Amino acid sequence: MSTLAEKLFGSTQSAESAAAHAKAIPSRKVTVVGVGQVGIACAYAILLQNIASEIALVDVVADKLKGEMMDLQHGLALMKNVKISASTDYAVTANSDLCIITAGARQREGESRLDLCGRNVAIFKNIIPNLVKNSPNTILLVVSNPVDILTWVTWKLSGLPSSRVIGSGTTLDSSRFRVLLAEKLGIAPRSVHANIIGEHGDSSVPVWSGVHVAGVPLRSVVPNLGNGDAEHFDEVAKAVTNSAYEVIKLKGYTSSAIGAAVAQLADSILSDSHNVTPVTTPVKGHHGIEQDVFLSLPAVLTRAGVSRVVIQPLDAQETERLHTSAAALHAVQKDLNV
Ligand SMILES: NC(=O)c1ccc[n+]([C@@H]2O[C@H](COP(=O)([O-])OP(=O)(O)OC[C@H]3O[C@@H](n4cnc5c(N)ncnc54)[C@H](O)[C@@H]3O)[C@@H](O)[C@H]2O)c1
Repeated sequence: MSTLAEKLFGSTQSAESAAAHAKAIPSRKVTVVGVGQVGIACAYAILLQNIASEIALVDVVADKLKGEMMDLQHGLALMKNVKISASTDYAVTANSDLCIITAGARQREGESRLDLCGRNVAIFKNIIPNLVKNSPNTILLVVSNPVDILTWVTWKLSGLPSSRVIGSGTTLDSSRFRVLLAEKLGIAPRSVHANIIGEHGDSSVPVWSGVHVAGVPLRSVVPNLGNGDAEHFDEVAKAVTNSAYEVIKLKGYTSSAIGAAVAQLADSILSDSHNVTPVTTPVKGHHGIEQDVFLSLPAVLTRAGVSRVVIQPLDAQETERLHTSAAALHAVQKDLNV
């Protein structure tokens, strides 16, 4: 008796040639670990932008995981077809090209990202070996906070080359910086070129010496830009540092902007874009940093991960602040049992 498929479809392709064809299409499987506010914002942004061919979700709370999977699946008739699966078992992540880790405790109101560290290291000891076992060729993208230290922890736990262990770092801070600068200048955020480097957190470093619009350095117009200038640009940097605290105070968590930032990173990596974006990566030896820490510097993103780091000409104050950032992280990191 013929099957439903045989009745509905004429036979045009043998099962073997269909399988060979499927194998020839490069996969873009993305795993998201942690389906909280951030994980789902990342998965949804990746889905809407057609960045992945397959999305696997993992969490420890089975009901919520199933609910989130179903909610995403129910929109698929209105988007590109993406295979979405979910399980508390890491087998579902097998052969992922990119694994995004958003699992863990989130910042409480007034809690610094560094204070979160101990709680999240314990969680990562379970997650990272499971991801690498199922996808030995994957790239790991860490989002959970404190993201810089957890990226270092992930590198240690994974045994992968550091080029394949990346943190979302100051991609989000740099976006916030560009948005607020653009507001002040009355132009579009994409037309302001500016980076925040260092820690994704309280010691982050706005690179005022490099801010430019269409190649015009802002310091050629405002000489002490960001350093007590009459236009109060310093307020912009303060607002960036405070912005996560403010959003958390107002809505309880941050999610939309980090979702957009992670989707951009995922796209840059999976499409082998060679885009330059500030991400968390090893910084020892750059800008005179001596500690074995991971911090954000502008980096070239490829299908193999971070291929190179851009060494910006920093002024003395920026270099000093970057060193402070490295020392603050190292002080926490050296006591971690990884
Ligand atoms: N890097 C950034 O720019 C940035 C921005 C915003 C938030 N974050 C961080 O992202 C993380 C998640 O934030 P959130 O608001 O989504 O939190 P959330 O509490 O909404 O979600 C966390 C999820 O992790 C899951 N989880 C906990 N332990 C797990 C484990 N062992 N394995 C798998 N899943 C596990 C929980 O069940 C939950 O669903 C936090 O650390 C937060 O600080 C980072």
